[in-house]
Amino acid sequence: MNVQWYPGHMTKAMRQMQEDIKLIDIIIELIDARIPLASKNPDIDKLGNGKARLIILNKCDLADDKETKRWEAYYRSKGFFTLKMDARKSGSMKPVVDKIEEACAEKLEKNRRKGIINRPLRAMIAGIPNVGKSTLINSIVRKGSAKVGDKPGVTKGKQWIKFGKTVELLDTPGVLWPKFEDKEVGMKLAAIGSINDTILDMNEIASYVIDYLQKNYCNALKERYNIEVDGKPHELLERIAVLRGALKKGGEADSDKAALLLVDDLRSGRLGRISLEKLSLEKADMINEEEK
Ligand code: G4P
Repeated sequence: MNVQWYPGHMTKAMRQMQEDIKLIDIIIELIDARIPLASKNPDIDKLGNGKARLIILNKCDLADDKETKRWEAYYRSKGFFTLKMDARKSGSMKPVVDKIEEACAEKLEKNRRKGIINRPLRAMIAGIPNVGKSTLINSIVRKGSAKVGDKPGVTKGKQWIKFGKTVELLDTPGVLWPKFEDKEVGMKLAAIGSINDTILDMNEIASYVIDYLQKNYCNALKERYNIEVDGKPHELLERIAVLRGALKKGGEADSDKAALLLVDDLRSGRLGRISLEKLSLEKADMINEEEK
């Protein structure tokens, strides 16, 4: 199976983002903490050239915290400001405002020297589908931040949300789709549910996940299913099917059902906190000794 995903509206989305980016000071890019490379669209770097950048490793509640910290250190070493978060949680908004102010400190200072004091920092949320952009925007709106409305002449037709005292957030996020040629990247995106399931072979995704877990999180499999975890992925799927009563009419193990079950367990965190991407040694060289 070769996973590919080319939505036709990509060009339109790019054009929209190019327009919106002119209006803003900082791009808040959401990535999925479980796959911090595969869920990052490199086009956002091109579009955001020269803007302050904050990367939020969202869904950190589902990722391995040790790995998330290393990824944060990696992105910081590349010049990004970073935060890890669970966008569904209330109370996770103040750190975002604080980080935006930190990332835009130079801009604020420049404004202050020019005598501009109350100009808000303008931010935009961007990222691939399903990383939690709407959840984050909703959390900000729920906190009672009023909509600012149109600003004639400057931001025609745009809605802004007041975010803390100093920030205004564009209410429509920039959506770019994942970009990949590598089949493994496609597998990871599929495993966490960022690619439409209907174009995928669930059995193959489940086998990919089992193989990865056997090598990296062997205990997660043992603890969840209480089965012997040695052997080929298809053998494990059969064991899981029997254990969970996923059987075909003749009593034969239904691996397809077991595959669905396993992928669902992964996506919902029932297999524990799992990172599907670990920082490679080569990339780890870029971060400080104490952060490794
Ligand atoms: P998007 O706008 O970037 O496309 O993503 P959206 O906010 O719609 O979030 C996608 C799903 O991820 C939602 O689940 C949402 O609740 C969940 N989500 C967002 N942030 C977090 C987080 O920090 N941790 C966890 N665990 N989940 C998060 P959903 O509505 O149930 O949709 P689905 O999971 O059934 O697709």
